[in-house]
Amino acid sequence: MTIDGVLRGPSEIIFGRGAAGSLGSVVASLGTRAAVCTDTVVSSQPPVAAALTTLRAAGVTTVVFDRTEAELPLRCVEQALAAVGPLGEIDVVVGVGGGSVIDLAKLVALLAIHGGPLEQYYGENAIPGRCLPVVAVPTTAGTGSEVTPVAVIGDPSRELKVGISSPYLIPRFALCDPELTASCPPSVTAFSGIDALAHAVEAFTASARSPDWSQQPRDVFQGKNPFSDSFALVAAAAISRSLELAVRSGNDLGAREAMLFGSLNAGLAFGNAGTGGAHALQYAVGAASHTPHGLGVGLLLPYVLSYTRHACAAELCRLAEAFGVPEPDQDEPRAAIDEIVRLSASVGVPQTLAEIGIAEEALPHLADQASGIGRLLRNSPRPLGRDALLLILRTAHRGELIGLPSTNEEATR
Ligand SMILES: NC(=O)c1ccc[n+]([C@@H]2O[C@H](COP(=O)([O-])OP(=O)(O)OC[C@H]3O[C@@H](n4cnc5c(N)ncnc54)[C@H](O)[C@@H]3O)[C@@H](O)[C@H]2O)c1
Ligand SMILES: [Fe+2]
Repeated sequence: MTIDGVLRGPSEIIFGRGAAGSLGSVVASLGTRAAVCTDTVVSSQPPVAAALTTLRAAGVTTVVFDRTEAELPLRCVEQALAAVGPLGEIDVVVGVGGGSVIDLAKLVALLAIHGGPLEQYYGENAIPGRCLPVVAVPTTAGTGSEVTPVAVIGDPSRELKVGISSPYLIPRFALCDPELTASCPPSVTAFSGIDALAHAVEAFTASARSPDWSQQPRDVFQGKNPFSDSFALVAAAAISRSLELAVRSGNDLGAREAMLFGSLNAGLAFGNAGTGGAHALQYAVGAASHTPHGLGVGLLLPYVLSYTRHACAAELCRLAEAFGVPEPDQDEPRAAIDEIVRLSASVGVPQTLAEIGIAEEALPHLADQASGIGRLLRNSPRPLGRDALLLILRTAHRGELIGLPSTNEEATR
């Protein structure tokens, strides 16, 4: 096996209890005028409020936008720009919150330098150059957005949420303090946590690509590689052992710490490798059901893996080991999938599409929509055409993991 890969990430990742106290000095190292994106739930939490006061103490003047909405509808970007005022007067953008807030901070940093409309940047590698520096402070564990090259928004003119992917969106600093995540309610902890697990699993089971060293610009997502593998395994172990505890005992800082470390590593894994089928299907399912990103990804992941399992058997065995549930049958790898099902059910992730109100008649349309998300589907270890996606959706609707076919022949019968 050859060793090759590309690794991108922030200039600096700062991780630890109390680390948010350095927010002021970190931001001051980049400039004196900051736009701060957050939301009112997050900014009213005492550890977050304390971190924000360090900005003034460090001599940083701020304009604050605190009305970010979950799942980031486009109107929030417009409202944030209006609240922040002249973008030429900002040196740095700070995002303190979950994935929705950090994604907003990335987009403000983009528009400050390159201008709108935002639509011109949809897709991959459409940002022409550097954006303002972003300091990302996650309060969920989580999307990993503090280290990734992506921002996801809900544009009402599009049926599905859209992604903007570019290395220029990677935050300059990721400032990760587990104390900021302790106030997450159980459902946010569960859904954002299972999303993080899916990032690790989809990055680790992604297909590898032969490097094209002359490619410029390089694909944002490079497929599985030795860098992403290392981060994914660390993430899988940390998240699988701490998710249930973090959901049940939110004040357990050890569990919160492991979850934030896990989601950070999962972000580094998928921010370089990419995600796959569960994420592609969630785009369609989330739009139809108005359910959070993590819920949909967590629900769909076992069904997708059941379909692809023979194409990534070695990886599933390795993941089972990381989860602490060694695979007894390497020819029929189920242990990792079963453990994901157990974990997600245990923390309250719905287990079928019927449970979240998706009608059976809607499935063909959802398969059509997901089949258009080539940038994610090409990472799948087994080809995921429209018929395969529909098959997965049907089994996810009924909640029948075991009935999934295990070979291409069976799939086309
Ligand atoms: N950029 C990326 O790499 C990436 C990756 C995956 C998902 N996403 C996107 O991120 C978004 C989801 O982000 P998320 O799962 O972090 O949730 P979120 O940011 O949407 O937040 C969900 C809810 O949790 C609350 N919350 C956040 N932190 C809290 C805290 N510490 N205490 C109490 N409440 C808190 C928020 O106020 C909000 O109501 C989606 O839009 C998704 O598409 C982005
Ligand atoms: Fe995700």
